[in-house]
Amino acid sequence: MRFNNVTFGYNSDKIVLKNISIYAKPGQKIALVGSTGAGKTTITNLLTRFYDIDEGSITIDGIDIRKIKKENLRKSLAMVLQDTHLFTGTIIDNIRYGKLEATDEEVIKAAKLAGADSFIRRLSNGYNTVIDGDGNNLSQGQRQLLNIARAAVADPPILILDEATSSIDTRTEKYIEEGMDRLMEGRTNFIIAHRLSTVRNADAIMVIENGEIIERGNHEELLKQRGRYYDLCTGAFELE
Ligand SMILES: Nc1ncnc2c1ncn2[C@@H]1O[C@H](COP(=O)(O)OP(=O)(O)OP(=O)(O)O)[C@@H](O)[C@H]1O
Ligand SMILES: [Mg+2]
Repeated sequence: MRFNNVTFGYNSDKIVLKNISIYAKPGQKIALVGSTGAGKTTITNLLTRFYDIDEGSITIDGIDIRKIKKENLRKSLAMVLQDTHLFTGTIIDNIRYGKLEATDEEVIKAAKLAGADSFIRRLSNGYNTVIDGDGNNLSQGQRQLLNIARAAVADPPILILDEATSSIDTRTEKYIEEGMDRLMEGRTNFIIAHRLSTVRNADAIMVIENGEIIERGNHEELLKQRGRYYDLCTGAFELE
């Protein structure tokens, strides 16, 4: 997956991303960090083709994404966002939403990978438990595990994760992190990171400011530079 000198603006009068180049190999974790409004979500919007770029190109396996049918592109990508919608229906169907033709066995396998299987089995009707709109009868941590399971059943080569900022207890957080780690294995991963632990483990960190990559490297390399990343890390690490 490659961004080659990508420039983009939502409107023609304002450039939001300037000359962005990113190269990511399967199995790698690329962390995007930077202050609010820097352009992190925009980068992922371009990859999913919610918007098309103005200059440069984005390729997957060497193919320009504008030449890939949207339907096929969507199959190459899954997103684990902070607040993915759950719908009124059973747990099993909510997970299956990641791949509508998935069998029950595939769904259960995905739930196990996510680390969601054990809490689901403890529910009154297990996988057939009905959750109400947006999963209000589940905890925030449980909803996130379902999101991970949904992405796992889709089993895409590229994964986009927008890490939750909201505070969940550390034990649940650790559990979710482990599920995420299993989900990320063998894929190309883009993580909009809010936690130092995630960033530290990334193969490459891109520090985005005002639509530009101002620093890139791994955690140690960037700390040594004593630049913006260093400031982010030493200043209580409120990545946002
Ligand atoms: N749909 C849109 N239409 C017009 N401008 C937009 C749109 N979405 C974002 N922008 C602008 O693009 C810039 C980058 O926004 P983006 O959402 O990529 O930031 P971000 O780095 O994800 O920030 P955050 O950490 O707050 O999520 C901002 O100036 C924002 O106002
Ligand atoms: Mg964002």
